[in-house]
Amino acid sequence: MAAETAQALSSGGADQRPRHVAIIMDGNGRWATERGWPRLVGHRRGAERVKQIVQACPDLGVNWLTVYAFSTENWKRSTEEVLGLMRIFRRYIEREAESLSAEGVRLRFIGGRDRLDAKLQQLMSSIEARTAGNSLLNLTVAINYGGRDELARAAGRLAQKVARGEVGAVGEDDLAACLDTAGHPDPDLVIRTSGETRTSNFLPWQAAYSEYEFTPTLWPDFTPDHMAAILDRFGLRERRFGGV
Ligand code: IPE
Ligand code: IPE
Ligand code: MG
Repeated sequence: MAAETAQALSSGGADQRPRHVAIIMDGNGRWATERGWPRLVGHRRGAERVKQIVQACPDLGVNWLTVYAFSTENWKRSTEEVLGLMRIFRRYIEREAESLSAEGVRLRFIGGRDRLDAKLQQLMSSIEARTAGNSLLNLTVAINYGGRDELARAAGRLAQKVARGEVGAVGEDDLAACLDTAGHPDPDLVIRTSGETRTSNFLPWQAAYSEYEFTPTLWPDFTPDHMAAILDRFGLRERRFGGV
């Protein structure tokens, strides 16, 4: 028996699919710079890719998709780039609201909202409400998201619950219930594009036991076929969760 086949059998078979995939969509800037174009052109192409990957998820057997769009650290970039990205997020929500609703996508956001402009915050809340009844794909977009920031905010909420007497001895579930992702399953697989092999403050709590895939492909070049190949490899992995 081929080694890969034996491994596939021991891990539940090559048809093991990740239910929840999280993606660090990196490489937009380099994609544009390589072509002599402004970085924002790369971000616009990146947003087009999100649409394509979202549409492909149901066929790929993925029911939860979480994408990292803007980190708490990304405010360090030029005002032009930050404002351009915020405009792209607003347009994405405005233009996609209709089709996401019709396609059965439930859209939610994680990350701190206070620092985002009022119009964007209002669009985020309204599309969350509008798509709340959908379940074909649970799409979560991380905007102004940082894992440490999320944990600090969660600790604050948890402290209030303890002070009110709603929580006694604090356990893992109590903290998880205070995260932005409360009620979401943990990601089975985290993919990072662009060749960087770091997690950049993405889902440190939730991805504690996720499998990771790092691909050199820049995000604007990442197609549903690339994703399908990664999911096939995931099927060959043996997940142990500390067991034997
Ligand atoms: C990812 O692409 C998108 C965001 C972080 C907003 P980058 O903008 O980080 O692209 P590179 O890494 O500079 O190529
Ligand atoms: C991570 O990419 C954040 C997003 C993809 C939104 P970065 O490009 O900001 O990460 P670093 O700076 O390479 O760690
Ligand atoms: Mg980057």
